[in-house]
Order: sequence, then C-alpha cells, then structure tokens
Amino acid sequence: MTVRIGFVGAGSRSIYEMVQLLQLPDVAITGICDIAPEAIERARQAVKQRGPADLPPLDAPAFGDVQAMLEQAPLDAVYVSLPPFAHGPAEHAVIAAGKALMVEKPVALQMGVAREIAAHAKERGVLAAVAYQWRYSTAVQQVRQLLAGVPIGMVTAVRWSSLPGSPWWRVQSKSGGMLIEQHTHCTDLLRYLCGEVTEVYAMAATTLLKDVPNLDIADVNTVSLRLASGAVGTISNSCAAVAAPPGFHSYVHIIAQGMTVAVGLGPGATVLRGRDAREEIAEEGNPNMAMNRAFVAAVASGDRSGILCPYEEGMRTFALTYAAHISATEHRLVRMSEQLP
Ligand SMILES: NC(=O)c1ccc[n+]([C@@H]2O[C@H](COP(=O)([O-])OP(=O)(O)OC[C@H]3O[C@@H](n4cnc5c(N)ncnc54)[C@H](O)[C@@H]3O)[C@@H](O)[C@H]2O)c1
Repeated sequence: MTVRIGFVGAGSRSIYEMVQLLQLPDVAITGICDIAPEAIERARQAVKQRGPADLPPLDAPAFGDVQAMLEQAPLDAVYVSLPPFAHGPAEHAVIAAGKALMVEKPVALQMGVAREIAAHAKERGVLAAVAYQWRYSTAVQQVRQLLAGVPIGMVTAVRWSSLPGSPWWRVQSKSGGMLIEQHTHCTDLLRYLCGEVTEVYAMAATTLLKDVPNLDIADVNTVSLRLASGAVGTISNSCAAVAAPPGFHSYVHIIAQGMTVAVGLGPGATVLRGRDAREEIAEEGNPNMAMNRAFVAAVASGDRSGILCPYEEGMRTFALTYAAHISATEHRLVRMSEQLP
C-alpha cells in the first residue's frame, strides 16, 4: 500500500520531513497546504536541493486552505507542522475527515486546545501522533531498558543554546518561549525515561537578550521538579548562550541506583557505574527516520504498537512545560493535577 500524505505548513520542519518521507518506497506526498503560497514554492525547491539526486520531485498540488486539501487531495495521513500558536483548526479538520495525524511539537500553546484535539482524536478513533523523534533513538531505547525498574534519585534536563532565527520564535504568544517550544524535546525524554512529574516550581527572566528587537520571551529558565516516583529534578535552559559546554546542549542527566547516565540528543549516551566504569552507547540510527517509518507503517497496517508518542503523551509533555510557564509567571508552585485533572 502506498501511504498518501499531506502537509499543513510548508516551512523548514516540513521540508526536512518531506525529504525523509520521499525516500521511503511506500510513501507519496499528495497535498501541501500553506497560507503563504511562496512557502510551498520554496519547499519544492528546497526538497530538490537537499534530497538525494534520485528523490521524486515534490509535485503535489498546493492549497491555501486545509479543508480544500482534505476534500480534493487523496490522503491517508496529514503532517501538521505549524508555528505553535496556529494549532487547533487544522488538527480538528484532519480528525473530522478521518485521516491519521502527525503533529509537530509543541502540540499547542493552551491546555484547552490540546485537550480538545486529544478528545476529538479519541472519539473518532483516529491515529494521532506527536513528532518527539528522540523517543525513537536507539541510545534512548537502550537507556530506557537499563533504567527499567531501577530507582531514580534525580534528573536534569538541560539545553543551553543561542537564539534561533524564526521571527515567531522570540514572541511568547507565538512560540510559548524556550520551555514550551524548544526544550520540550529534553523535557519529553525526562518524562519518557524517569516517569511523571507531579509538582513544578519555575523561575524565568529576560537577562542578556533585552536589546533584541521584538523579543519578549525569557532567555533563562530554571525549574524544580518533584516526580511521582519520589525523585526530584530540574530543567535548565537558555537561548542566551554563545556556546554550550560539553553535556549542556540538549542532554538529560540521571542519577539512578548504581549508575549515572547522560543522554544527549544526537551523540548517544554515557553510562557510569563507578569512577572508572564507563560505557558509551552510540546512536545507531536516524531517530527522525525511524519515527517516520513507524508512522507510515502504522497508517498502512492499522497496528499502532510502533508509535512511541501518541498525541496524549505529547500533550502531557506540553502540560509539564506549560505548568512551568504558569509557575514562572505566577510565582507559585504548580501541581500537575491542575493541568491534567
Ligand atoms: N521535531 C523537531 O526537531 C522540530 C524541528 C524544527 C521545528 N519543529 C516544529 O515544527 C513546527 C514548524 O516549525 P518551522 O520551523 O517549520 O516553522 P516555519 O515558520 O518555518 O514554517 C511554518 C509554516 O506554517 C505556515 N502557516 C502558518 N499558519 C498556517 C495555517 N494556519 N495554515 C497553513 N499554514 C500555516 C507558515 O506560512 C509557514 O510556511 C514548530 O512547531 C516547530 O517547533 C520541530
């Protein structure tokens, strides 16, 4: 079966996904929707330039409206790859049409929007997944197995990096800021590897990037966490760093019984079982490609067991970052039960 995929949003993330999907033998891209027609043209050119020489051309018809694409293009699934503030209408339209859904992170900027999408997908029985691709990392999977049943004392998710270029990224009401938009990958792995968080207390400030035009996000965020297991943790992120020291650019560090683990997004993991007992776990695949293969296989077969981040899971990670944002702005401890009753 050829899985026919449409895209809502034709920006930089979609281009990356399209180049991967077009390399899979059983996939066709059959519709592209963007409110900016020039974005679709840019995507056609970019896919041609970035893909291998034998990549099929991105010749799917262009649409300016999701509903028109759903009515006119032959589709089995739709990737929704929009700036965070734009989520909601596209997902509901895709679900109502009974198509499988892949949503790029973060799933929304308001809990109500995410909850309604989750409820709609459940009610219609539609496959809905979130593109937290690091769950598909071979190193992450090995670490998850090592940690199974092992008591965890503390976890830290850290990302120190510099300011991305997207104009919407630096605007709180459009991106949600670094906690919600970018550091969400490490926060998701923190949950995936160590379990649910029950309480958060966050502090945030705009410190070094005050003079950047149109920027109103915090450029430093620090969050204290309590986990259901009894472990404690922290989230530390900044987009004001000129560079990150080793182990600080997108890492999750874990102190567990008998081992200390550092998992990087990309470089693999290091497991320490004593001062001189060090094991390196290399990344053996391309996590994003593994995620896309799993999604396509699930759409083709109807078997969802290979989907490592169903929509509700992605929503829970958003809820954690949203709770941290509320805590930082309202200067109070937030219990996760407020966000996920
Ligand atoms: N998983 C990852 O590693 C990863 C990497 C990069 C980006 N992302 C996520 O992907 C999403 C998109 O990011 P991007 O960098 O591609 O953004 P972008 O700004 O490059 O592209 C977004 C596109 O959406 C279009 N758009 C906006 N509103 C629309 C609407 N209502 N209907 C149709 N099109 C609309 C815009 O015109 C634009 O072309 C973000 O949520 C981002 O966090 C994920």
